[in-house]
Amino acid sequence: MSRFLFKFIMPLRRFWVTFEPSGRRALVDEGSTILDAARSIDLNLDHVCGGCCSCATCHVIVREGHEHLDQRSEDEIAMLETADGQTELSRLACQTEVMADLRVKIPS
Ligand code: FES
Repeated sequence: MSRFLFKFIMPLRRFWVTFEPSGRRALVDEGSTILDAARSIDLNLDHVCGGCCSCATCHVIVREGHEHLDQRSEDEIAMLETADGQTELSRLACQTEVMADLRVKIPS
């Protein structure tokens, strides 16, 4: 079954995204991005390009729940290479859909 059809058949699920270091939490619909979660609680997470995968200012490190995320796209990988302090758990918040509860660190 395609992911598109799956979304229409299955009831919507919601997940918590906890941001570090503040500890603030956002409850979002499955498929929302980490950036959507931050914006829903007015958390200051830079996103200079507006979510177009062309700036890397929304770089975050997914400390818990990363195993439930989709693979990074080629574009995301390329853009992350320009981010300071990137790790193998690094993601672009605007490109990463929430598919489980997550704990996310915003690098300082
Ligand atoms: S906001 Fe620019 S890459 Fe995410």
